[in-house]
Amino acid sequence: MSHEIVPSTAPTRTLEIEVDGVTRQTLIEDRELLVDVLRDRIGVKAPKIGCYGGDCGACTVELDGKIVKSCIVLAAEAEGSEVTTLAGISEQDGDLDVIQRTFWEKDAFQCGFCISGFVFSTRDLLARDPDPSDEEIRESMVGNYCRCTGYQTYVEAVRTAAERLRVDSK
Ligand code: FES
Repeated sequence: MSHEIVPSTAPTRTLEIEVDGVTRQTLIEDRELLVDVLRDRIGVKAPKIGCYGGDCGACTVELDGKIVKSCIVLAAEAEGSEVTTLAGISEQDGDLDVIQRTFWEKDAFQCGFCISGFVFSTRDLLARDPDPSDEEIRESMVGNYCRCTGYQTYVEAVRTAAERLRVDSK
């Protein structure tokens, strides 16, 4: 298979999006991916780049409340949208939220490269089902790769986070 190198063109489109509660404006090229614009033009580094193909989950963000892999979304498609990255879900006082804190306390991750995908998948799962079975937790992880292979600790952390959120909601 041959790879064609497409020359970069000058950015011509103005993009306005809200990222983690802050309105941002930047010039982009029509073909630019959301993950690249977030990281390279806006400077938000929480979404990582693993596969660039929608497979690994490292680049996961919420786009208008829905989780997406930002390496398969054109930035231009996000015009006028609200983007939430891992850096934007902490408590207002800057503390980690319950899911983030539980993952941290349970040593659910090692290098942390994959953490965006797992945290957003957990948020999505627990919003739909506050008391998931281990099998449902494992199913919710599909599409997220952890190269440190911390999958079992993730299951335990999600179970604990679910318990904590159920207690907090009483
Ligand atoms: Fe986007 Fe892997 S970098 S899914």
